[in-house]
Amino acid sequence: MSEINQAPIGVFDSGVGGLTVAREIMRNLPNEEIVYFGDTARVPYGSKSKETVLRYARQIERFLRTQNVKAIVIACNTASAMALEELTAEIDIPIIGVIEPGARVAAGTTKNKRVGVIATAATIGSETYTRCLKQLDPEIEVLDKACPLLCPLVEEGWLKDPVTDEVIHRYLESLLQQDIDTLILGCTHYPLLRSNMQKAVGKEVTLVNPAYETAVELGRLLEKEGIANQGNREGKPCHSFFVSDAEQRFNDFANTILPLDVTSTKQINIEEY
Ligand code: DGL
Repeated sequence: MSEINQAPIGVFDSGVGGLTVAREIMRNLPNEEIVYFGDTARVPYGSKSKETVLRYARQIERFLRTQNVKAIVIACNTASAMALEELTAEIDIPIIGVIEPGARVAAGTTKNKRVGVIATAATIGSETYTRCLKQLDPEIEVLDKACPLLCPLVEEGWLKDPVTDEVIHRYLESLLQQDIDTLILGCTHYPLLRSNMQKAVGKEVTLVNPAYETAVELGRLLEKEGIANQGNREGKPCHSFFVSDAEQRFNDFANTILPLDVTSTKQINIEEY
């Protein structure tokens, strides 16, 4: 196997949320090594402008290239909405975001062609999910809703708190009234609220988790490009983690959701890139 097949995948997010995508990559592509960057100093992206998020994404791409990554996953819905198109045109390695994979599965799932999307204000404002879904099937009606309170609740660890269920209920009420049969969890944090969401929408509505779909899509892309790691390495892949602010809080969160112990996260100055 050539050197490029053994190179890591760069995965980035505005902070900890993209770990839900990293987790799916670890589960579904267990031979692949990940270099994860969480922009913990500049999170949230979900309330920022396109210009700012694009500048951040370009800096992160430059940092990841110093780690010799063979492909990049933008594991953040907001950064995918704001920067994927530009980065795809600018760089010479494969790059994917989380929006298209999620939209494709939702378009193939909906029966009544009424798809709900929940995400940050920036992702909803960009209308990227709507454009993507309409491109896949012009008959699809997209009902979307920004849910800015959900990320902080997840980061507080309030996954099983009635306050979180109440907030979810308030956000989803209007979408349910519009008869959606499919709901895209269009923000990295929302898969962690999957069971709360399913309870709120009932069994009739299918939830789509773009984190999982992105891992599947990444696997296909690596195979197509001939750069998948076929797995003759000795021992498990050695993932590495970088952040732009204090490591401890990141490690604490990572250790609640990843199937490994994250202890050696490094803090870097992303403004240098
Ligand atoms: N990772 C972001 C996303 O998926 C959520 C957190 C943020 O606003 O930066 O949109």
